Amino acid sequence: MQNEQMIQAINDQVNKEFFSAYFYLAMQTYFSSMNLDGFANYFRVQVQEERDHALGFFNYLNKIGGKVTLSEIKEPQNEFSSPQEVFELALKHEQFITNSIYELMNISREIKDHTTEIFLQWYITEQVEEEENMGRVLNKLKLINGDGAGLFMIDSELAQRVYVPAVIPGAV
Ligand code: FEO
Repeated sequence: MQNEQMIQAINDQVNKEFFSAYFYLAMQTYFSSMNLDGFANYFRVQVQEERDHALGFFNYLNKIGGKVTLSEIKEPQNEFSSPQEVFELALKHEQFITNSIYELMNISREIKDHTTEIFLQWYITEQVEEEENMGRVLNKLKLINGDGAGLFMIDSELAQRVYVPAVIPGAV
């Protein structure tokens, strides 16, 4: 696979996934500063997952002989007004990433790059989970509507999240 459009799009996706890690690191910092350690843990795990996603695209590109070009990672939003705002932004960002991966899939289908199409399958499935996870916490935050006791309950739940390294077929 040496289609320039596909290679460029995968390079862009490496950047977007690293940006995701950066963005979620800012969210982790926000929650740490509020002493909401469970929320901070949730984003600490999320940062590690995003790094795995980025390296998955990076490794795949190397494996198929495409040229990796690392570009600047833009500055993320660093200030947030509430936990609910954080999860609204996180869900919106995941929806953006899903659309970006759909676009990669569209290109691979257009150029009949079946290897990349199979590789992208893992990410398509992963995005369902990513949106679901962010949406689930957001809904709980809406339900408690700023109630302190409710916030601490969600915080305790999110403290349980554990990082499991992603095994991405085609990228190891
Ligand atoms: Fe790498 Fe959260 O999508």
